[in-house]
Amino acid sequence: MIKRENTVIEVKDIVTRFGERTIHDKLSLHIEKNEIYGILGESGSGKSVLMKEMIMLLQPNAGEITILGESLAEISFKEAQKLREEWGVLFQFGALYSSMTIAENIEVQLKEYTNISKEMRDKLVHSKIALVGLDAHVSTLYPSELSGGMIKRAALARALAMEPKLLFLDEPTSGLDPVGARNFDSLIVELRDILGITVVMITHDLDSIFGIVDRMAVLADKHVVAEGPLKNVLQSQHPFVEAFFKNDYTKEKYMDKLEENREENV
Ligand SMILES: Nc1ncnc2c1ncn2[C@@H]1O[C@H](COP(=O)(O)OP(=O)(O)OP(=O)(O)O)[C@@H](O)[C@H]1O
Ligand SMILES: [Mg+2]
Repeated sequence: MIKRENTVIEVKDIVTRFGERTIHDKLSLHIEKNEIYGILGESGSGKSVLMKEMIMLLQPNAGEITILGESLAEISFKEAQKLREEWGVLFQFGALYSSMTIAENIEVQLKEYTNISKEMRDKLVHSKIALVGLDAHVSTLYPSELSGGMIKRAALARALAMEPKLLFLDEPTSGLDPVGARNFDSLIVELRDILGITVVMITHDLDSIFGIVDRMAVLADKHVVAEGPLKNVLQSQHPFVEAFFKNDYTKEKYMDKLEENREENV
């Protein structure tokens, strides 16, 4: 087995079935510390399921997932609880609790997992709100009183409440306008740089992929058909890669990025 010093997530030969349907068949990838790792693939290719397996909400039928050195299949209940504190998650459809204010939403995990005082919790909540670039006054507002972009930021603040080492984001820029999406991307990069976290990001947003993703995995045919930095992925001739990166729209809009990444290969 290859020893990778900085690997924080290792997915090895995962098999996932729902009834008769096989979603993943021997899917493998590895994610390095401090990188922004993209997971790409068609709708229904099993990206969200894979993320749920990484965060122990689902269990694969076979294969092994190791997170921060812990093998998820062998982990004890107590170790699993501890490991859960190491990551923050932004779900694809999971927004905030609508009956709670933004501050209460961010506080949920702090209340559940720690016994720090109310005063300290308030301080932490306010620092997270500032960290994601929201104005302090949003803390008393309810989710229905926020814009889409603000909700994403508030959900991100909640994901960061426990000061995680890993951040899982499922389609974080979907539903945002182009400016909001780019601002969100910049925030992700900033958080990675400031906090030293590792970011796993499911996305089909080409701006994010060309702009902030360091390495990525492309899911198709039930497994990873291309993995690595953009220039490696672009070498793949898999039909999904061809259709996704080499269509006329992408070629025109991202000509410079495609050129850059091609020339480096020569
Ligand atoms: N809990 C479940 N039980 C049964 N089937 C499921 C379950 N969760 C997901 N699936 C199926 O697994 C497949 C992969 O789903 P998944 O949500 O991972 O797709 P995805 O790649 O995230 O797609 P999208 O880009 O649309 O979000 C789909 O066919 C879905 O219906
Ligand atoms: Mg999904």
